[in-house]
Amino acid sequence: HDPALVDAFGRRIDYVRLSVTDRCDFRCRYCMGEDMRFMPRSRLMPPDMVEAVAAHMVARGIRRIRLTGGEPLVRGDLPDLAARLGRLLGQGLEELTLTTNGARLAGVAARLADAGIRRINVSLDTLDPVRFASIARRDALADVLAGIAAARAAGMRIKINMVALAGVNDDEFVAMARWCGADGHDLSIIETMPLGDVAEDRSGRFLAAGEARSRIAREIELVPSHHRTAGPSRYLDAPQLGIRIGFISPLTENFCATCNRVRVTAEGRLYLCLGRDDSVDLRAAWERDGAAGIDAALDTAMRIKPRAHDFHIERPAVARHMSVTGG
Ligand code: GTP
Ligand code: 5AD
Ligand code: SF4
Repeated sequence: HDPALVDAFGRRIDYVRLSVTDRCDFRCRYCMGEDMRFMPRSRLMPPDMVEAVAAHMVARGIRRIRLTGGEPLVRGDLPDLAARLGRLLGQGLEELTLTTNGARLAGVAARLADAGIRRINVSLDTLDPVRFASIARRDALADVLAGIAAARAAGMRIKINMVALAGVNDDEFVAMARWCGADGHDLSIIETMPLGDVAEDRSGRFLAAGEARSRIAREIELVPSHHRTAGPSRYLDAPQLGIRIGFISPLTENFCATCNRVRVTAEGRLYLCLGRDDSVDLRAAWERDGAAGIDAALDTAMRIKPRAHDFHIERPAVARHMSVTGG
């Protein structure tokens, strides 16, 4: 039979976000509370299992894998894990990427590049150290900037992820765009999404991506771009800066109709939508029936993948935090 993964709505699934840990060394206010509880380390899939599961997914037509967390680089073995997955490049896998908070990037950037990672997305919500410490609850801006520089020096393309937060960083969109322009990074501006309780009111901080776009457009020319990645970002070119600026708008402009992705947690559960609880237990399927088990679980997954998320900023759509499924 045709091995490709196509869901009940005709969407071809060729992208996996692989969360390698739910842990993080930051506590970004929109993501988790200070007292966040994490899964026991004993539940993590062993690296052999991660590699096997990934290989079977690539055999079913997955072409891109993005390593996520939590913060993937809190795992000391992440460069090794990336190197294992990098072996799938050229065997069906077309791209291996990473999303990171950047704090521990400087020490491993060269090894990640050697593993075959060519693009990295780094979360950076502000360029002001005091604001940074207040948003992430960790005083780590200098480390992140050093990480970005190291990744750049290792030859990787960088996209900066900035979560738009009203009254917190919404006076910095233009400055961030100019900084990215000067350094040659693309920029994504992201609407804050309601996942998991964070002990703070997200609705008061919500800012629509379209509002961020018009604030930038008042000072920097933005023109339609043909650029697309595998993700939900809608890009514009900023020719004066020589970069692209993307806008991710799950709440104001739903993009689920073109969804191409699924997510694997660090313990091996496959979630089918960021904002829904539908899932299949890939790990149990692998442990019970090996490759055939994975095949059957993926077929089930394609039947139950939901049509769309249904985010409302007033309350979490699911109890699960974003750090469990890697955004
Ligand atoms: P590429 O398109 O592969 O470059 O990456 P990306 O921008 O999708 O990935 P990244 O990990 O940098 O995520 C940026 C933001 O997009 C995060 O806030 C994610 O939670 C969000 N995001 C990614 N995929 C989805 C999705 O399927 N649905 C929703 N609602 N948000 C998503
Ligand atoms: N809403 C939107 N983006 C979020 N991120 C983390 N939590 C949220 C949220 N609640 C972002 C991070 C990172 C990316 C993976 O997701 O800043 O850049
Ligand atoms: Fe960590 Fe990313 Fe969540 Fe911030 S947004 S606490 S860096 S997982």
